[in-house]
Amino acid sequence: SLSVPVHALAQAFPTQPVTMLIPFSAGGPTDVIGRLIAQSMSATLGQQVLVENVTGAGGTLAAGRLAQSTPDGHTLLLHHMGMATSATLYRDLPYDPLTAFDYVGQVTTVPMLLVSRPDYPAQDFAALLEMVRENPEETLLANAGPGAVSHLCGMLFMQAVGVQLTTVPYPGTGPALTDTMGGQVDLLCDQTTGATSAVAGGGVKAYATATAERIETLPDVPTALEQGLEGFEIGVWHGMYVPAGTPEAARERLTEALRIALADETVIQRFAELGTTPVPQEDITPQSLEALFKSEIEFWRPLIEQAGEYAN
Ligand code: MLT
Repeated sequence: SLSVPVHALAQAFPTQPVTMLIPFSAGGPTDVIGRLIAQSMSATLGQQVLVENVTGAGGTLAAGRLAQSTPDGHTLLLHHMGMATSATLYRDLPYDPLTAFDYVGQVTTVPMLLVSRPDYPAQDFAALLEMVRENPEETLLANAGPGAVSHLCGMLFMQAVGVQLTTVPYPGTGPALTDTMGGQVDLLCDQTTGATSAVAGGGVKAYATATAERIETLPDVPTALEQGLEGFEIGVWHGMYVPAGTPEAARERLTEALRIALADETVIQRFAELGTTPVPQEDITPQSLEALFKSEIEFWRPLIEQAGEYAN
């Protein structure tokens, strides 16, 4: 029989498998990161961390699910900066983004780049810009809906180029990338965590990165800036959240498990192959994520209000 004292059992966390909500499709960039982390966190926590993809409404369905779940540490959410932009993009959210969540820690930042179907006829980025300016309506730009970073990145691209393309929404950039490879759509702005192997394997063409410097793992892809396009730059950050009211002890344990995951050589190695790195260990704290989250809401609010492109 068990010799563990009853009071210790009552305090133990986790007492059951933990669900990690992923707001976009399986196989996509957020999912890839989530599954890598979940594997390590499972080992640390001594309970399975099970990934559940809750897709829809640009990630806000998953955030809504988290807001409604029992605040005992057994449900968490991995989300990117859409967690902050959706606070303005969606005028009618079923949760209050400022009070519904507690913070586990920052996770990673991921570069983005513009890719096309493999047979897109433009020889280079300059030719691509010419093509989209000539045929804006016939150019199909895929994204994962308002609140997705592919949507935000696509918006920046269209603003920078001065065109309005026809956008095609998907539940994640996983399926959007599949359709780009298949030629159902023309262009997609994706994270390296989603697009790297398709670029390397020739499944899509990469025309420009949305970064200040070239991406180390894709050294042949020039930045948009070095090809003369200003204003097409975006960095994507990720955070991990629990529902507000989660007991401090459980939350601390999750932060610790996240910190261990992001120091795991296998995770770091795989991240590196996908063009990303974990945030510094000192940023894997609730305070650091909360500060970033709140400043990002403030940063994006006027820009979104100015664009006037609300999701609802
Ligand atoms: C995904 O995981 O599918 C992406 O993060 C969606 C996006 O925000 O573009």
